[in-house]
Amino acid sequence: MSIPHQSFLAGVNRRYRVLIPLTLILIWFWFLWRPLLGFHTKLAWDQSSNSNQTQSSPISWEGNKDIFDFPPIESEAIKSICDDVEWNSTLVFTCDNSYGGVGNVRNSVLNCVRYAISAGAGLVIPKIILRNSRNIVDLETRERTTLDYMFDVEHFVESLRLSCPALKLYSTEGDIPNLEMSPDPLSVVPESLVEGKSRDGSAALQNSDQWRQQFYQWLEQYATNNTKGPIIVHVGRLFLKYSMHSDGERFALEFGAIMKVRSDARELATTTLRALIQAYSLPVNLSEDIPSDAFLGVHLRTERDAMNAWGNPFWPFSTYKAIVAKYIEQIQDPSRPKTAVIYVASGDLNEVGKFAKDVEALNMTVTTKDNLLTGKDKEDLRKLVWDQQALVDFLIMPLASDFAGLGISSFSWNIALRRHLFAKQTSFLHIDGPKMFEDEFSILYGGGKDKYPEYEACLWP
Ligand SMILES: *[C@@H]1O[C@H](CO)[C@@H](O)[C@H](O)[C@H]1NC(C)=O
Ligand SMILES: *[C@@H]1O[C@H](CO)[C@@H](O)[C@H](O)[C@H]1NC(C)=O
Ligand SMILES: *[C@@H]1O[C@H](CO)[C@@H](O)[C@H](O)[C@H]1NC(C)=O
Ligand SMILES: *[C@@H]1O[C@H](CO)[C@@H](O)[C@H](O)[C@H]1NC(C)=O
Ligand SMILES: *[C@@H]1O[C@H](CO)[C@@H](O)[C@H](O)[C@H]1NC(C)=O
Repeated sequence: MSIPHQSFLAGVNRRYRVLIPLTLILIWFWFLWRPLLGFHTKLAWDQSSNSNQTQSSPISWEGNKDIFDFPPIESEAIKSICDDVEWNSTLVFTCDNSYGGVGNVRNSVLNCVRYAISAGAGLVIPKIILRNSRNIVDLETRERTTLDYMFDVEHFVESLRLSCPALKLYSTEGDIPNLEMSPDPLSVVPESLVEGKSRDGSAALQNSDQWRQQFYQWLEQYATNNTKGPIIVHVGRLFLKYSMHSDGERFALEFGAIMKVRSDARELATTTLRALIQAYSLPVNLSEDIPSDAFLGVHLRTERDAMNAWGNPFWPFSTYKAIVAKYIEQIQDPSRPKTAVIYVASGDLNEVGKFAKDVEALNMTVTTKDNLLTGKDKEDLRKLVWDQQALVDFLIMPLASDFAGLGISSFSWNIALRRHLFAKQTSFLHIDGPKMFEDEFSILYGGGKDKYPEYEACLWP
């Protein structure tokens, strides 16, 4: 790790410390948890009396099929960035190279929208590269699908219309006017245009004005002069390639809310959460930011694709054994929130079975969405493909009382950073590990040779 990188991180941390107390909490409370609040106020928590709710377990969730829904966002922070951009109607970006799980895709798409705003370009609604359904290790098939594979497209479009009205969105490339007059599309790897590129957070774009200049210089070299048609630029995958701190705190906090998980996954998550609370009579108070007596969320990221990608002998948490040993330490740590139930996020039920056995002696009960959903809901879950099923866990995990995940996983980081918005503990990053991330609500294990500081720098919460 280079020296400049270290100082950048220090700067980021300082900024975090300053902004956390108020803005973070308020804004995120509003955007992310507003649906829960609304839900709570409408709910008959205690039907025997109209007020003085002493009962902490919900009686009826009726009429609340989707507690994870929230309206399109209209963000002043995004508006103010978009208002400063000089827009170029001849330029259109496509962002069709995002792949992987929800954490990867979400970040890559958000970054691509951000680069399009920098360039003042129009944007074709991003596509997602499909994972091979018969072999989850094969992340990049040649097949692409639409954004609704994971996300609510209407919400995406409407949020951008409200928050960045000058950004021209096209449903498909075919909708771009005068396409027939367009020269051959160009391809660009945006981060390659900035100096000192590398894969860690220090190299992520931090000054979008500078990038814009470099982009237009690049464009001049490659774009045909005197073209009358639109200039189409195919943009490469942008996972962790933009420093979310470069546009100010409010933007960093609000931008991610243009992405909302698709509605069927939200409804399944609602049903799963309700079943979890009822099955174990958990005294969950959903108006608490992080419910204190709910469940431990465990991200058991030991599926085959992860082990294949991370099976690095230098990486200390590259095996089930090493990971679970840490998780068990966390369960037994008297300073962590106490729970009796573990909700496991995993796409491999054999691994969950192994884990359930391993924590049996600790008197911990293990459950998953597959256990909790029944009947038609379970069928609906099974109809979803692997990466779509994970969306359910992605929504539920922020509501855990304590969370255990991996410092190498964007999914884990997304959850931990989101939970961190409610944490009092402001210093959470320990890049050398073994607890790469630690606050009172979450621990992510990592470090050693693979430090991954770019998650903290680039992962929009
Ligand atoms: C609620 O509790 C307060 C304080 O204990 C009490 O004054 C009030 O009468 C209660 N209201 C109802 C509807 O029971
Ligand atoms: C838009 O970009 C193209 C390509 O660089 C350039 O020729 C044109 O002048 C730009 N238009 C505006 C309005 O900036
Ligand atoms: C377009 O014009 C500019 C300025 O005259 C020139 O520098 C550039 O090389 C030209 N680009 C192409 C692809 O011909
Ligand atoms: C639920 O949490 C809210 C917010 O922390 C608190 O005001 C309320 O008293 C709690 N309700 C119960 C029944 O504990
Ligand atoms: C688990 O529960 C049993 C029965 O209640 C008890 O005897 C045992 O000490 C508990 N073990 C732990 C690790 O808490």
